[in-house]
Amino acid sequence: MFRLNGKRALITGGNSGIGFGIAAFLAQAGASAVIIGKNKKRNTDAVNQLRQINSACNAEEFDLSNTAKIGAFFKSLIKRYGLFDILVNCAGITLRKRADRIEIDEWNNIININLTAAFVLSSEWAKSLISVHRPGSCIMVISLMSEAARPTTAAYGASKAALKQLVRSLAVDWAQFNIRVNGIGPGYIRTKLTEPLYRDKKFSKWVISRTPLGRWGKPEDIGPLAVFLCCDEAGFITGQTIFVDGGWLASL
Ligand SMILES: NC(=O)c1ccc[n+]([C@@H]2O[C@H](COP(=O)([O-])OP(=O)(O)OC[C@H]3O[C@@H](n4cnc5c(N)ncnc54)[C@H](OP(=O)(O)O)[C@@H]3O)[C@@H](O)[C@H]2O)c1
Repeated sequence: MFRLNGKRALITGGNSGIGFGIAAFLAQAGASAVIIGKNKKRNTDAVNQLRQINSACNAEEFDLSNTAKIGAFFKSLIKRYGLFDILVNCAGITLRKRADRIEIDEWNNIININLTAAFVLSSEWAKSLISVHRPGSCIMVISLMSEAARPTTAAYGASKAALKQLVRSLAVDWAQFNIRVNGIGPGYIRTKLTEPLYRDKKFSKWVISRTPLGRWGKPEDIGPLAVFLCCDEAGFITGQTIFVDGGWLASL
């Protein structure tokens, strides 16, 4: 059970943090993983590690903020690798700024990478599967900020709340094609993105005290759920966002 043998997965943000954790678990479960990242060195380091798990893994350099070029990029990937059974939209950036200080370009950049790129890529991916009547599983990486706000999270939170609704909309549109779409909502996970928060002793202590399971999450906490959501045994699950947050959202 819970195997992904013979499946091909595309993971944005797969060269680092949560995306890398997901790619590693998918590869471990038997999928060949193609990761997308912007940074060449991070891509090389990540793919070298992934190949120790599954030699059929690869990395591709692409800046997802070029949303107009995503279609052509995705078609070039299909030509080289074939169709992808699994798509994980994990690439994301954050902006920690009080709402009234956010510049329009900063707002647009967050929405563009966290939301629009995920939509455009998912749409291209679904089209490629629909045209040949092939099923698929897509995962969006959401956040606690889709459920509640903290100071300085306006743009990030808006992008993630919209992404969570997109999970439902895409799931409903594509269910007729047996294409499933689900969200994973991580709690506070120690990664490059959250390193400044982790290093802030006061903030870090607050995260630990606020999390019922009493610790920061690790990227390895997220991957197993991604494997489950993508495997055949989860074939009746779509449109859901499941939080892996150490109990955060369950507690006041
Ligand atoms: N860490 C947490 O506590 C937490 C909690 C909830 C949700 N999340 C979400 O989890 C996802 C991954 O975050 P993380 O914490 O693992 O951070 P991370 O280690 O900084 O990873 C971010 C990933 O996104 C990629 N990326 C960013 N901008 C890109 C662009 N324009 N084009 C292509 N790739 C791009 C990065 O690749 P390059 O470095 O090559 O640009 C990197 O692989 C994000 O969507 C984040 O919002 C994180």
